[in-house]
Amino acid sequence: MVVRICKDTQAMGKAAAALFVALATEKPNAVFGLATGSTPVPTYSEMAAAYQAGAVDYSGITTFNLDEYVGLAPDHPQSYRYFMETNLFKHINIPTENTHVLSGLATDPEAECAAYEAMIDAAGGIDLQILGIGNNGHIAFNEPAADFAAVTHTVQLTESTIEANKRFFDSVDDVPRSAYTMGIGSIMKAKKIVLLANGAAKADAIKAMVEGPVTPECPASILQFHPDCVVLVDEAAASKLSK
Ligand code: GLP
Repeated sequence: MVVRICKDTQAMGKAAAALFVALATEKPNAVFGLATGSTPVPTYSEMAAAYQAGAVDYSGITTFNLDEYVGLAPDHPQSYRYFMETNLFKHINIPTENTHVLSGLATDPEAECAAYEAMIDAAGGIDLQILGIGNNGHIAFNEPAADFAAVTHTVQLTESTIEANKRFFDSVDDVPRSAYTMGIGSIMKAKKIVLLANGAAKADAIKAMVEGPVTPECPASILQFHPDCVVLVDEAAASKLSK
């Protein structure tokens, strides 16, 4: 695990976007693993800016998103499909059929999760996965006490995550209580991972992830065992690191 401290969120976004742009140039049919949350938004703006400047072509890229809320339709403004459309897909030349987000309306959750995992494998696996991190150390929606071997599955969200994510909804009661998520096992299969975190609220999670024991209580700590994981943080998120 390599940790780099960036000047601010814009610099983090530029550094992460540069990895995706370089990969798309080197491997035009690469598979991107994408994440939601506020943290990757500057990365997606930079990726779109690179396309608009004519510096990159995403027409052969395939994407898989990490997770989706159970019960939200793709056009629900808080669904992760909607997030991806508005923050990235509609600004670049990726064909819609190449973009994959779990369906919040799946009638057979187990089949949906199994088919999703199979699709990732059939695409050759994820070349570059972007991750944020929850205040409690979750990645995607793999909450503390996560099973490190799990593949795509349904999870119940913790109170901490519901609290943290309520800012996007009209009220806390509107936040879905469950979600579909790629498992830690799915994420660890990605060939390269870039995890981003900014702000003091993430400092404890970053310390536990980087310097703490590898434990399901901090799901992100498993990344210490990933062979190619880059962590980009701002000074506030890095403030509790001792080294
Ligand atoms: C959600 C997402 C995670 C994301 C986390 C942090 O729980 N499922 O993938 O990392 O939020 O979000 P933010 O970047 O807004 O802090």
